[in-house]
Amino acid sequence: MSPADLDLRQFAVLGLVAEASRLALDYFNKRDSLGITMKGEQDWLTVADGAVEAFLRERLAVLFPADAVIGEEGGGEAADAVWIIDPIDGTANFAHGDRNWCISIGLLLNGVPEIGIVSAPALDEVYVGRRGRGATLNGEPIKVSGQTNMAHSCIEIGWSTRIPHADYLATVQGTLVAGASVRRVGSGTLGICHVAVGRTDGYAEHHINAWDVAAAMAIAAEAGADLNDFFAGDGIRTGNPILCCTPGLSAELERITGIICRRKGD
Ligand code: IPD
Ligand code: CA
Ligand code: CA
Repeated sequence: MSPADLDLRQFAVLGLVAEASRLALDYFNKRDSLGITMKGEQDWLTVADGAVEAFLRERLAVLFPADAVIGEEGGGEAADAVWIIDPIDGTANFAHGDRNWCISIGLLLNGVPEIGIVSAPALDEVYVGRRGRGATLNGEPIKVSGQTNMAHSCIEIGWSTRIPHADYLATVQGTLVAGASVRRVGSGTLGICHVAVGRTDGYAEHHINAWDVAAAMAIAAEAGADLNDFFAGDGIRTGNPILCCTPGLSAELERITGIICRRKGD
């Protein structure tokens, strides 16, 4: 795909995400009357998830019919050029009236995150990353914190019921023992974006899905984060662990989490 093809996609999809953000925010403001169901234990679903994904799929099919799409709610198959969508990441937050949720859409080209767009409408924040072209928050360039001291760091450890409690607690324990403060906001996508903008110093989760990370990885990589090779193996279909952090803490976080970053040039 040429740089011009990518430019076209980046700007067109930014427009789609702005529309999708208004749609999602409307649902958020009316959430008391929304249909909210559970897909499983602590796995929330609202009508906004389905509506936002359907809107993005419909528009992408018209604008870029040759591009494949994978979405959390509607599925899909991998391809050389594939959009990966999480219509609402942080659905539990959304359902509870917490503003930390976002729409995430990333373009993966031959297994590499190329474009990432993450919009958090209730926070009025839009992150964009494009491989080789930098990362921005609301149009301003962003970069990782540059922290090198675990004892001054804030690390987010993502959680889901897909991981045994003991494994989650061991990672939290190891991170605390290393001197970090530990938090969990409840949106893996925003968690990675927060590393990119230097609000936190690292994000780790022992299992996460491709739609949670595809866009945010493009953003974090351009902001200077170290990342593991999430799309190795069958990551696109079945998920993988994720580690994203400011480079000065990657050795320590690799030791604690067992998740190994891919270095530049690897
Ligand atoms: C979840 C959130 C959560 C992360 C989970 C994800 P959802 O996605 O990103 O923070 O820890 O791994 O499944 O269900 O809110 O789209
Ligand atoms: Ca998600
Ligand atoms: Ca979701």
